[in-house]
Amino acid sequence: MSKEVLKLENVNKYIGQSHIIKDLSFSVNAGEVFGFLGPNGAGKTSTIRMIVGLNTMSSGDIYINGFHISKDFKKAIRGVGAIVENPELYPFMTGYDNLKHFAKMNDGVTKERILEVADLVGLTDAIHMKVKQYSLGMRQRLGIAVSILHHPSVLILDEPTNGLDPAGIKEIRHYIRMLAEKENVAIIISSHLLSEIELMCDRIGVIKNGELITTQNLRERNQNVIHTYVMKVATPEAALKILKTLPTVNAVSIKDAQLYLQTEEAALPEIISALVSHYIALYTVIPHVSTLEERFFEMIGDDTYE
Ligand SMILES: Nc1ncnc2c1ncn2[C@@H]1O[C@H](COP(=O)(O)OP(=O)(O)OP(=O)(O)O)[C@@H](O)[C@H]1O
Ligand SMILES: [Mg+2]
Repeated sequence: MSKEVLKLENVNKYIGQSHIIKDLSFSVNAGEVFGFLGPNGAGKTSTIRMIVGLNTMSSGDIYINGFHISKDFKKAIRGVGAIVENPELYPFMTGYDNLKHFAKMNDGVTKERILEVADLVGLTDAIHMKVKQYSLGMRQRLGIAVSILHHPSVLILDEPTNGLDPAGIKEIRHYIRMLAEKENVAIIISSHLLSEIELMCDRIGVIKNGELITTQNLRERNQNVIHTYVMKVATPEAALKILKTLPTVNAVSIKDAQLYLQTEEAALPEIISALVSHYIALYTVIPHVSTLEERFFEMIGDDTYE
């Protein structure tokens, strides 16, 4: 059973008259990568700032390792590592000296740990280079290394791939997945980049206008039986009539001269035989998997999202 390391319960935030975070509740487990997804202005950064204690909540509770963020601040915050805006690094110092500098701010960070975090983010070879010579992706990774020096239970990254090129994004993705596994840390990544989140995360929470619309487990979904199939046949209209008579077909329609049918995978052989026995020429049957982007638009409606 996974350990719950971060829990938000009915968190609200008012700034003046505006209610910017509304009754937000979710939790994240050790070793899990959680995508915090939402359009600009949805409330991602505001939520993150409350989790890391940079802003106060108006009401509700946030627990890190069971410690309350405001009632037990010191113990709670010890469990958190975060990069909220840009990582604060010293460009004229080497990567190693940066790590050494930040290590001093925490008790018990050894030289071995410094080398270990450098290795975890793939900077071993560049660790004695000055940070000003680093690429943006390398700086981002050094920032991550700094924020995990003290073995946090929760690592929070606000838009970690902002400004990175595709190769840089791929690298960050690789290291984030590895960190979750090797350090058993819960990682929260905020983003508005849907495809990014889909590849990197185990679970997502979608926020819009300060409200959590849904959470979805992306890993479980992949194991599910696919329910929609696209069929290419010689005579779609004739096939449609036959399919409508079959009790195992939940729904069927024609789009772009192809049949879209909803059914269980187990029923496919019977459906195919029915078509063949009526001399319908069947060319292809393809499972139709909707992308996260399609599902995201279904969830929030595409009026506020570009
Ligand atoms: N200090 C503030 N005063 C008033 N309103 C604020 C303040 N900070 C944030 N807001 C409002 O709260 C809402 C949420 O903002 P937030 O920065 O959390 O969104 P976000 O999801 O991080 O967006 P983005 O993707 O653009 O970073 C916005 O409508 C914003 O205008
Ligand atoms: Mg933001």
